[in-house]
Amino acid sequence: MNTKNKFRFASIIIFSLLLNITLKAQNYDEALIGEYTLPELLVTQNKKEVTTVEQWEKVRRPEILKLFEDHVYGQVPEDFDNIRFKVTHQDKKAMDGKATLKQVAITVERNRNAVTINLVMFVPNKVKKPVPVFLVINHRGMKTMDATRQNKDGFWPAEEVIEAGYAIAGFDVTDVAPDNKDKFAQGILEELYPEQLEMENGMRALGAWGWCASRAIDYFEKDKLIDAAKVISVGHSRGGKASLWHGAQDKRVAIAVSNESGNSGAALSRRNFGETVERITQTFPHWFCPNYRQYGGNEDKLPVDQHMLLALMAPHAVYVASAAGDLWADPKGQFLALKEALPVFELYGIRDTLPDEMPEVNRQIINSNTGFHNREGQHNMTPYDWQQFIRFANAYFKL
Ligand code: GCU
Repeated sequence: MNTKNKFRFASIIIFSLLLNITLKAQNYDEALIGEYTLPELLVTQNKKEVTTVEQWEKVRRPEILKLFEDHVYGQVPEDFDNIRFKVTHQDKKAMDGKATLKQVAITVERNRNAVTINLVMFVPNKVKKPVPVFLVINHRGMKTMDATRQNKDGFWPAEEVIEAGYAIAGFDVTDVAPDNKDKFAQGILEELYPEQLEMENGMRALGAWGWCASRAIDYFEKDKLIDAAKVISVGHSRGGKASLWHGAQDKRVAIAVSNESGNSGAALSRRNFGETVERITQTFPHWFCPNYRQYGGNEDKLPVDQHMLLALMAPHAVYVASAAGDLWADPKGQFLALKEALPVFELYGIRDTLPDEMPEVNRQIINSNTGFHNREGQHNMTPYDWQQFIRFANAYFKL
């Protein structure tokens, strides 16, 4: 071995050791979780109990939304000067005539600056219009949503979704906030909302991705093929964190689907299992507002936990998907968060129930407004997951 190779070899060993030590620092032992107390979902900041939909909608829901804004994801500015939709490509005979392909450039302007979002969408031809749509907040790039369908990817299984009678759409998050801690601002933050960058509770990448999904819904409202009252906002992992936050913000979302969104998504932060707030804010500081950092290793001080985010979907629907091999995302913590969110659905007279223990692997639970599965296998969004989303949506929309 020459000196250069020796050095390379030594660096790899040191790096693996360090990685090992850091990973060991994460807890994967149920016995080591310890006691934790979740913040009250149905008690206001003035210590008043919430027992009616009116109190929830007028007081507690806005309070919780604001707490998530200020302490976790940052604000979501809604103002802009102009929005334009341009169908840049259309093919009514896509997928051997089964679908209509539309590629739409959505341009948003504010203070004379503009950002364009490129939406890809397939709509089934044989179904009565307008149709419900699965909208994917996609951090895996356009290659997973190939408009030509030469490259088919189980992450965005357009053929299967079309077959089930749904439209499928998606955009690459890079259009609005690149998923990179040094470059995330090179999108809507620098162009449209630079003032957010100065704020401790300012918008960052996850908020920007959800903002983008809302602009896609603005487009759906203008497209006669799409039923804009039946939008399913889907995201995997970091995308799932964004889809939950999007659904909480934008009441036009009918179902928020979180696929293995884990820490700062569907999983309870206080469980201290798998990824932690400390770890996520160190590795991905650009996802959250700067305020969130202070809760690393200090989760008990967080004024929210993630069950409250899931509860914000009521009286619409939320679906939580996990994978048994994805302990980093804490499947059990995601299940418990969903269970803890149920009292808010109950306020609306929705009597969804979940068992005390997580259901066995590959057994789906479909309640009226909440659903869950924990499939076998690793961290990914797969055709199996999509089949479950479709079954849940069929039940929810009574299709
Ligand atoms: C990392 C990160 C997770 C995230 C995941 C993903 O593992 O720690 O929080 O969910 O990436 O987006 O795939």
